[in-house]
Amino acid sequence: MHDGSGRIAVQNLTKQFGAVTAVQNLSFTVEPGSVTGFLGPNGAGKTTTLRMLLGLVRPTAGTATINGRQHHELGNPARVVGSVLDNGSFHPKRSARDHLRVYAAAIGVPDQRADEVLGLVGLSPAGHRKAGGFSLGMRQRLALATALLGDPQVLVLDEPANGLDPEGIAWLRTFLRSFAAQGRTVLVSSHLLSEVEQTIDQVVIVSAGMTRYFGPLENLRQSQRSRVLVQPADASGLATALREAGITDVEPTADGRVAVAGTTVQQIGDVAAKAGIAVYGMEEQKADLEQLFFQLTSGQYAGAPLPGQPAQGNWAQPGAPQAAQPNPYAQYQQTPQQTYQQNYQQPGQQPQPNQGWGGQQQ
Ligand SMILES: Nc1ncnc2c1ncn2[C@@H]1O[C@H](COP(=O)(O)OP(=O)(O)OP(=O)(O)O)[C@@H](O)[C@H]1O
Ligand SMILES: [Mg+2]
Repeated sequence: MHDGSGRIAVQNLTKQFGAVTAVQNLSFTVEPGSVTGFLGPNGAGKTTTLRMLLGLVRPTAGTATINGRQHHELGNPARVVGSVLDNGSFHPKRSARDHLRVYAAAIGVPDQRADEVLGLVGLSPAGHRKAGGFSLGMRQRLALATALLGDPQVLVLDEPANGLDPEGIAWLRTFLRSFAAQGRTVLVSSHLLSEVEQTIDQVVIVSAGMTRYFGPLENLRQSQRSRVLVQPADASGLATALREAGITDVEPTADGRVAVAGTTVQQIGDVAAKAGIAVYGMEEQKADLEQLFFQLTSGQYAGAPLPGQPAQGNWAQPGAPQAAQPNPYAQYQQTPQQTYQQNYQQPGQQPQPNQGWGGQQQ
């Protein structure tokens, strides 16, 4: 029936709701054995994409498959993919255990599985309580328990951290990592990179319904550009000396300093000393991952390719993921001046403060 790989493949997926293009030619793959974050700001098209993957919304164009099959072709899908898209669909008068038993019967697994999954999500003590009286975090756990009933190979979770307390967040992180460590597939959405950064190893970043990046989070980390701001006695003399030393990423700043990228404080100091130029100060600046995420998804980029860059979809092709792009952000690399302006000179465009797991409701 299906290839059993646990692989999720989204290919040229598009969803049009009347005049609204929720998802636009989206392509990415999610491999088993890893936790993949599906990241993008509010309204980016995450939930719509997950709903198409789970057969709840019909794509306008393109395909979303698990194990090489669309959801309706999976046979008993609960055995293949468990999902949590919202956390409120429980009969309020039914106990958590009874709720799980109803679902267990529906997908053909024994009653005892209800108790097993209650244990897996830490809800055993509350199994007899009515779901209607559950807190938001407890409902999240019960929804996850429901998703786990079929012992699925793939887990798809839409903003699962909402409502969880810090202990619950830490628990979820450990749970998802160990689930993936068993060779299973986890796709988890969030609108906050900081929320999932410690949990995920792969990332798909979407904005305005389009893929901005997909691949290892580590590659994004490595693409962070840092620079050193140097205050020399002779700015143009230092710039010349640096270029002669093969350090070419050198830009004057408006305040009379020299911004140097791609080298170290030590090397700059050595060049300056050799050239006989006094240096009064050096400051290292690093663009963090959150800023990079913000750049990839912020309004100025939404809906259009970056200046001088190819249209979206050209590089984020399923089947040709990370390996083809050792430094995927290089696709978006701009002139140093542009990069600095975005990274350092637009305080009004700084990312939102870190709100942590569960800091915001959908
Ligand atoms: N059933 C629908 N009818 C019309 N428009 C819709 C429908 N579902 C989603 N949209 C629109 O599609 C776009 C993407 O919505 P979606 O819910 O997929 O975003 P999201 O990335 O999940 O956002 P959030 O982080 O807020 O959950 C939005 O503009 C939304 O208003
Ligand atoms: Mg959503």
